[in-house]
This record gives sequence, C-alpha cells and structure tokens, in this order.
Amino acid sequence: MAPYRIDILTLFPDSMSRVLGESIIGRAEKKGAVEINCVQIRDYTENRQMQVDDYPYGGGWGLVMMAQPLKSCLDDVMRSAGGRRSRVIYMSPQGRPFNQEEAKRLRRDYDHLVLVCGHYEGVDERFIEQCVDEEISLGDFVLTGGEIAAMAVADCVCRMVPGVLADEECYTGESHWDGLLEYPQYTRPEVWEGRAVPEVLLTGDHEKVRLWRRRKQLERTLDKRPDMFERLQLSSKEDRRLVEELKYERLPERLKLKFEPRRAEERDIGRLLDIAEQAKAYLRESGVDQWQEGYPNRAAFEADIAASRGWVFEHEGAVAGYECVSMEPEASYRGIAGEWLTGGENYAVIHRTMAAAEFRHTSLSREMFSLAEDLAAGMGKESVRVDTHRDNAAMNRLLQKLGYTRCGEVIVTLKGPGHDPRRSGYEKLI
Ligand SMILES: C[S@@+](CC[C@H](N)C(=O)[O-])C[C@H]1O[C@@H](n2cnc3c(N)ncnc32)[C@H](O)[C@@H]1O
Repeated sequence: MAPYRIDILTLFPDSMSRVLGESIIGRAEKKGAVEINCVQIRDYTENRQMQVDDYPYGGGWGLVMMAQPLKSCLDDVMRSAGGRRSRVIYMSPQGRPFNQEEAKRLRRDYDHLVLVCGHYEGVDERFIEQCVDEEISLGDFVLTGGEIAAMAVADCVCRMVPGVLADEECYTGESHWDGLLEYPQYTRPEVWEGRAVPEVLLTGDHEKVRLWRRRKQLERTLDKRPDMFERLQLSSKEDRRLVEELKYERLPERLKLKFEPRRAEERDIGRLLDIAEQAKAYLRESGVDQWQEGYPNRAAFEADIAASRGWVFEHEGAVAGYECVSMEPEASYRGIAGEWLTGGENYAVIHRTMAAAEFRHTSLSREMFSLAEDLAAGMGKESVRVDTHRDNAAMNRLLQKLGYTRCGEVIVTLKGPGHDPRRSGYEKLI
C-alpha cells in the first residue's frame, strides 16, 4: 500500500524537515508508512530575484505572498501525487479550528494532504479561491507563518496511520479520541519526592485498574474541560454510574443525607399533616396557588395508605418526606392540551410529593423521584408522569433537571372553588 503522503509547501523546508524527521514520525517515514515532503515555494518563482512576495494592493503594512509561485509549486506536487485522494489545505487563522475529529476526517477521507504555509501578511486571495479546498487553523491566535500549524496537523494525522504507532490502542486510548481526557500516567520510582503512585496501579488487578482509569478520565474531563464534559453522550451504564458517583461525592454535605423509604402507615398521618401544612405555607409564601384549598388532607393520606401507594422517607428515624406512587392512570391526564411522550396508559403517577421544611434543599426530592421510577420500572411501566403548578418554579426546575419533559397542560379537579386548576404535565420514559 502506498504510504500516506503529506506535502508541505513552505519557505522553510529545511528546518521543517529536521523537526519532522525526528522521533516517531521520522521513524515511520523510514519504515515507509508515511511520506512527508517539505517543498520550497521559492523554487517555483518566475522572476530573477526569486521573489515570493510583494506589497499589498491598497497599501498597508507587510508583504503578501504571490499566487504564481504557490500555484506552480502546487501543480508540480499534484502531478507527482498522481490519482490520489488529495486535499489542498491552507493553514490560516481564518480556517476551521483543528482538533482530533478533524484529524480523523483527514486521515479517513484522504491519502494525500497538501498543507500550504503562508507567511508575512498571508497569501494572495485569488490563490485561495482558485486552488484551496479548505482552510484549517491551529486556534484563535495569529502565528508568524503556517509552518508550526502544518507540523501539528501532519504529526497528528500521521500518528493515526497504520504502522506509525505500535498499536491502534496507542492513540484510541488517548485524550480527545472519544471526547474524554486521558487518565493520569505514572512511571518509576514508586515514590518520588514523597508522592506515591496510586495504590490501585500496583495491585496487578486489571479490572480494578481499568475501572480506576475510566473514572479518572471522566473526573479529569469534568474538572479540566467542563465544555467537553457537557457534550459527552454517556452510552454505557458503567460510565453513567461512575459519573453519578463523582457528582455525588461533590455534593455539599447537606445533600448527602441518607433517607430510608418505607410504606406509609396510619401512625404517620399526624406527621404527614404537619409536613403538608409546612408545604402549603411554603407555596403560599412563594406566591404559588397550589395546595391552597385544603388539599392534601387526612382523607388523601388515608386513601394512599389503604391502597399501599403512600411512601414515607425517614432520616434518622423521623419522617422527612412523603410521596404517593400510583400505578393507576390519572383521569385528568387524558385531556392534556399537548401530547404525552407515551400513547397508552402504561404509566405510574407521582402525587403529593412533599418534604419537611428542614429537608427542603437536600437530596430527598431526587430520592423520592428515583424510588418512584424504580417502582414503576419494577411494575413494567413505560414511564412516570407528574403534574405541578406552572408557578411552582422550584418543582418545574427539579423535574427538568431529573429528565422529565413538559408535555402540556392538564386541568386537575380541586377540592374548593376560586383556585387555578391548570397544571403542567410532565413525563419521563424509564
Ligand atoms: C501573520 S499570519 C497572517 C494573518 C493574516 N493577515 C490574518 O490576519 O488573517 C501569516 C501566516 O501564518 C499562518 N498562520 C497564522 N496563524 C495561524 C493559525 N492560527 N493557524 C494556522 N495558520 C496560521 C498562515 O499561513 C498565515 O498566512
């Protein structure tokens, strides 16, 4: 197979060849895996002074590289490349920023790159219009010439060519390959200036090491590149669990309280009525016209308990919160102004979620939703639905954070007149 070929058009071929001839890329060239040619643009001038640049039309600072030597140089390179899949790239601060994905594309779609290095004020625009397929930038800054950028592109593309590195894993395990940064690396000695290598790396337990490294990849990306972390699509269950662990560890202590769920019993009703009063007062003070007509009341809790659908959450033996998880369809949800995510009625409904005032901004609400989702999944339900008042900003925010989709407006039956019966209906697939 012909080697992957890169021609770099430059005014400084000697210094570039020296750098690219070193180390891994240099060895790969000797082995015949890649071919890198640094071509002197000046050799293609048609004037006696071998002049490659001239003053800009319209005046201004600096010199502009002329189109003719560039075009003649390019023609010569293209002739010698024959019928390869070629791409002519002008290294430019105005191009698309270079990254690993761009490198993968160049490696995959072409087997011949021509990297044109400008200098001075840049190159005559007509050369770019006529001869260049795309412009690539090393980043949002300006370099003196395109050489450093071209070397970066050449190096990055070449290390993905088979035969350049010892194994595919050498580059697929590295930072940016799958949207993550690499885990930390250590070598001898085991302790250096009082700093020891993490113990897990000395265990010889491959599975433990693999898990530790994966966790570190996720952790580092979260810490060092939150922008990359935001874009991550965590497709494996293991990754999702690791991220949950990481995020949990970072929660403030007040959010790490432990809550134990159990089915509600008659003896809880007094405490539940107290919590309901606190919740009603909180909504009233927040200007939300929800639960202001006497609901939820003793009868509602008694009915939940009788139907075994009431759940209390205890913290250190005291009831901290409550929810009703019903497996029965909710009649008022049929008339939604909007559209539920699921068509049928195979869903669970959460009603009457409430937290005692001292547990309001803790992990309790998350745990309540998580239990409801687990119960629903265990019962073979497709989804969980819930409604809340549109002015209940905290609950609307929480639902969206927990992955619930607002599907439309439902009208609920209220115990008393004079209150707003409109609610936002949410659903989450499980
Ligand atoms: C001083 S720059 C010219 C900048 C140009 N006048 C402008 O403002 O867009 C000279 C040459 O360096 C190269 N260069 C400069 N910054 C670069 C970057 N961020 N990425 C790739 N090449 C760059 C280009 O080849 C360019 O022609």
